[in-house]
Order: sequence, then structure tokens, then C-alpha cells
Amino acid sequence: MKDEVLAQLNDLKIGKDTSITSNSHNENSRKKESHAKAKEPSNQLKNGLLGWYAVCSKRELKEDTPYCLTMFNEPLVIYRDKESNLRCVKDLCPHRGASFIGGEVIDGELVCPYHGARFSSNGECTNLNRITCNHIVDDNYNNYASKIHLYQYICKEIGDYIYIYYTGNAKTSLKDFEVTDQLETRFVESYGFDISDYAYEEVIVDFKCDWARIVENHIDILHLFWVHGETIPDNDVNRKVITSFNQEITREKNQIESKYKYKDKGNKEFIRIKFLPPGRVVIYKGDPSDSRYIQILDHIPLSNNQARVIVRHYRKFMKNKFITELLLFKKLQHRVFYKVFAEDYMILRTQTYNNQMGFVEKDNIKLLGEDKMVQYYWDWFKSSNIKDNPWELFPTNTDTNTVHQDIAMLYPPANNTRVKENSRSLFINILIRILIPIGFLVVLI
Ligand code: FES
Ligand SMILES: [Fe+2]
Repeated sequence: MKDEVLAQLNDLKIGKDTSITSNSHNENSRKKESHAKAKEPSNQLKNGLLGWYAVCSKRELKEDTPYCLTMFNEPLVIYRDKESNLRCVKDLCPHRGASFIGGEVIDGELVCPYHGARFSSNGECTNLNRITCNHIVDDNYNNYASKIHLYQYICKEIGDYIYIYYTGNAKTSLKDFEVTDQLETRFVESYGFDISDYAYEEVIVDFKCDWARIVENHIDILHLFWVHGETIPDNDVNRKVITSFNQEITREKNQIESKYKYKDKGNKEFIRIKFLPPGRVVIYKGDPSDSRYIQILDHIPLSNNQARVIVRHYRKFMKNKFITELLLFKKLQHRVFYKVFAEDYMILRTQTYNNQMGFVEKDNIKLLGEDKMVQYYWDWFKSSNIKDNPWELFPTNTDTNTVHQDIAMLYPPANNTRVKENSRSLFINILIRILIPIGFLVVLI
């Protein structure tokens, strides 16, 4: 099996002076790389692990129901206020520390499920007479309600995405935030796409594994052929097909980009991958003006070894809603997404375990020349982690009750309800499409 793996990897040669077969060659490549690296700044990316994250899709929000998630272990709740503006508050009621999970949004005000404290969009308590039942008389109530308030983060709604400016330091007034990071640099429009030309499908998946490993997976071209070769519908994405690519990598202040071009097809582009820190990966082919698809993946660090991915697949073809519905295109595409994620999941979990155990550092993982983008990503991650260290802002104890995290884990594969729902409705729809014409025929006869 190991030989087979090596033989298959031998077939995949990306770049001019990279090879994964010879140790001495690797050694030379490494020396050359480290020499080149000495001249390069270790991390040219401006944005660190704190900043703008796309955290959910607009269609996920339900009116009157608080939407809960965690970011770097910190519980948060998103809801829409009276003016339909989005609010993101720390999920902590200042009365006695309950969560707003199970609470309500009434007239645009967030209501705690424990004793009924209500909060306006600026985080002030609004049921000033009593936060709880009026028939309980407390002479000491005084101005209690005017002394409690919520803590917030900046939250924006752009192009069906909901973004949070996450700093790890929620504030009572949004005016106190100093936004140093440009949200616009994450938009595909900023480098030439007109998103209105595309239709899209979306899948959200929760992984019980390290956030950083999933991002690594999504910028890693090598595993595509090996892990997803039988699932991704592209003739060249196949472990048995021998294709060689040249790799061009650029690092700018807002992104790392890697372009892969066929060596033997006149340098035609196979794919390009952009990492837009902290959490976005964009994948497409060719010039933005003629790329038929774009894939946007957003990675949300929920908590220790729990991460969410929102994947959207934008396309210029199959845009007609009636036809896509008729052909069950959406459901079929969701099946592909779920399968691709399931293929990655076991690997990501084992990597997470090895990382948790300290083996990844200790055994000094050695990257290939082809892994240059991955290397650049880890350069960024490590320096950002030292600078921002978001995982230390709200460290969890091993005996911490994880109810909030469990509730925050909404999607497969940790909870594969959606996979089952999708498969069931696919089956029913296929059955209907077969039975209706047969029914017609029977009636006619
Ligand atoms: S804990 Fe929220 S109202 Fe008491
Ligand atoms: Fe993958």
C-alpha cells in the first residue's frame, strides 16, 4: 500500500524543481528554500487571527430566534433588532450569567429565557420596572436594571453573508471598536468577479477537529487527487491520471495565492487558490472574467477542536431555477459536498489528535516543495498565533460543561441529520419524477 502511495505521488509532479521521491533532492530543495526564505519576510500578511470572519449565512437566521455560536470558545448570539440591523452579543445574561439559548427576540429585543430580562439593540436592559415576574416584590430593586448591559461585537450583513469583527474583547458600545482590518479585501468582487453573474449552492459543516487543519486542507492541492479523486467531477482530479503542473505563488499583504498551470497544455490554468486571512479560502479557475465557477470556503473557529465551514459553490452555468430543480441539481451537488467533507474528516481528526499529542511539532513534520502554500500558511498562522493568541483569551478547562459547544455544533458530519434529509428528499424526488410520467401513461391508456 505504501509503495502504491509513493508510486501515485511520483506521478504528481508540481513545479519545476520539486520532487517527492528523492531524499537528497528534497534536502537540496529544502536548503534552497531556506536560503530563499532567509531573504523573504516570514509573514507578509497584514491580517492576523483576529478580525473579520464570515460566521453564518443570512438564510440561517430565523426571525425571533437567537442564533448561537462560539468563536474561540467565547459564546455569542446573533439576532435582528427592531430596525432589522444585525447584532452580535456575548451570550451571557448580566443578571445571573445564563445563555440566551432558548430565549426569544420580541419586538427586536433579546429576551433571556431564565428570568425574562430584555435588552435593546444597544445592550441596555429595557424592562426597568422588573426583569422578572412583577408579582415578586423586592424593595431593593431600585435602579438595578439600568446597571446591567450586554457586550457586543460589530456585525455586518453583506451579500447573504454575516460577518463579525472578532477581537476577543466585546464592548458595551460599538463606537469603542477601532476597526483596523478592511472587510472588503475578502470580497471576490475586489479582484474582478461580478457575483451577480453566478448562482450558488451552500453547505455548512461542523468538524470536531482543529480549525487550522481544515484551512490547511482547503489550500492543499496535493490531497485533491488522492483523497477526492473519485468524488470531484474533474477528469484531471484522479489519482490514476498523470498530470504535471507549474506552481506560481505570491504573497501580498491581504492574501497568499497559488496558481497551478498545466506544464503540457500551453501553461493553461488548472486551478488557483487564494487564502484570505483569517478564515476565507477562494478557489477558481482562470481569469475572473471567464471563470465558470468560484468556490468560497469560510472557516469559523468555534472552540477547541471544533470548527465550522461554510462552503459556497458559485456557478455561471445551470442558473435557471426551474431546470436546476427539475434535475435535482442542488441536492446532487450537496451530496458531493457532504461526501468530500466526509473524505477529509477522518484525516483531519487524526491530524488533530497527533497535533494535540504534540507529535506534529516533536517529530518535525517535513513539508514537500509542492507544499509551499501550506508552508506560507503555517508561517502566517504561527506568527499570528504568537501575536493575537486567540485561543488563550478564553481557555477551557477539561471539566468545562460543553452544553454551549454541543448546541453550537449544528451540522454534519458531527450531526449528520442534513445528510440524511438531503438523501431522503433526493430519493423521494427521484421517485416522484418516475411515478408522475408512469401515472400519466396509465391514465392515457
Ligand atoms: S439570568 Fe437572565 S434574566 Fe436572570
Ligand atoms: Fe479535502
